[in-house]
Amino acid sequence: MAELKQSRPKGTQDFVPPDSERMRQVEKVFRDLAECYGYREIITPTFEHTAVFVKSSGDTSDVVTKEMYSFKDRADRDLTLRPEGTPGVVRAVIENRLRLPCRLYYAGPFFRYSRPQKGRTREFFQVGVEALGEASPLTDAEVIYFGDLFFESLGIRDCTVQVNSIGCRECRPAHREVLRKFLLDRKEQLCEDCKLRIERNPLRVLDCKVETCRQAVKDAPTPPQYLCAACKSHYEQVLAELTRRGLRYEMNDRLVRGLDYYNRTTFEYISASLGAQDSLGGGGRYDYLIGDFGGPDTPGIGVAIGLERTILAAPVTPAPARRHLAFVVWLTEAELGAAQDLADRLRADGIPAQVDYDASKVKGQFKSANAAQAACCIIIGPDELTKGVYSLKDLATGEQREVPSAAICAEVRALFAD
Ligand code: HAM
Repeated sequence: MAELKQSRPKGTQDFVPPDSERMRQVEKVFRDLAECYGYREIITPTFEHTAVFVKSSGDTSDVVTKEMYSFKDRADRDLTLRPEGTPGVVRAVIENRLRLPCRLYYAGPFFRYSRPQKGRTREFFQVGVEALGEASPLTDAEVIYFGDLFFESLGIRDCTVQVNSIGCRECRPAHREVLRKFLLDRKEQLCEDCKLRIERNPLRVLDCKVETCRQAVKDAPTPPQYLCAACKSHYEQVLAELTRRGLRYEMNDRLVRGLDYYNRTTFEYISASLGAQDSLGGGGRYDYLIGDFGGPDTPGIGVAIGLERTILAAPVTPAPARRHLAFVVWLTEAELGAAQDLADRLRADGIPAQVDYDASKVKGQFKSANAAQAACCIIIGPDELTKGVYSLKDLATGEQREVPSAAICAEVRALFAD
């Protein structure tokens, strides 16, 4: 038998309480905000046919060429654990013939085989929105604003939005050609990946992080210099609307992003506190993707945000020492039934409650209550049953007093509120 591995796979993380709770809390902030902006949840599979990603994210992108968890299933199908959300959403919208325009959001695990480091894991949690069927530059600005608002509502202050426009199928070829020639002249200075990109995807060389490539493309022609009139006007309207909304942004004319489906607006949220993996989230417009997938020609724009990085960048809120949990303690077997009934009564009233069935001694039950970080214990003994009261003990202060049975829910609530 193979040796049982006791450690998690490289690049994965366990979220134990309270970190798991923090993760869900941040996700909830996102869900509430997305719903406020009219997005509805879409749940797509965590794996798709590999072609879904190759066709959309791009067969020259790092995500597709180096980072996918691809496998064959038992029936020889080529499948891939989703490295990002947009392609699956677009596939699902077409397959389910959703009425357009529509606004969708998602939250869940994604998978990329990259070298793990701070803020970069092989399984990570992403939340994202996609506005399908919306062409207006006002939507671009609203989506960018939406992401910014999410970070702001979590208290993240050191986040900058970078914005760019990479043009459309009309104006991109001219830029691509001058850029290709520019890069050919500097081929020897480029990293091995970028040498290949010159012919296949020269745009991507512009935001290569390798220092020699950065130097080589310092004076390279950038997409905004080659925008056609329609793209220029679209970009100007996006920027004007960001300004109108009072959002501070930076223009980064090299921001092309690592996925191939983008056109016109691209943007990224950068955090100063994260080190090398400083992108909290990013997105852009993809007006050709739905058509290229075989759907009706429909514009689209979206953003995705990494939750682990968001949590790293957010101010640390110390976890409370005690939880909103009431532990019901029974003194003898004779009170066990009453303890169970009380726990159920509390729960029915929306108060989390727990009973230790295993520890027959009070001391053991108190130990369990403390291990669970309960805020209080409610003790039931023969005296309490006779008098129709409970003894309520505040575990933070050690204070204990008798509470009439009818008042117990209100008293526990008041204790939680302290
Ligand atoms: P992306 O920039 O590849 O865009 O990923 C978005 C965010 O996911 C990143 O900014 C980062 O916070 C997080 N992320 C990505 N890879 C990792 C990783 N290995 N470990 C931890 N976090 C990671 C997209 O995925 C596009 N689908 C965004 C989009 C939506 N464009 C249009 N609509």
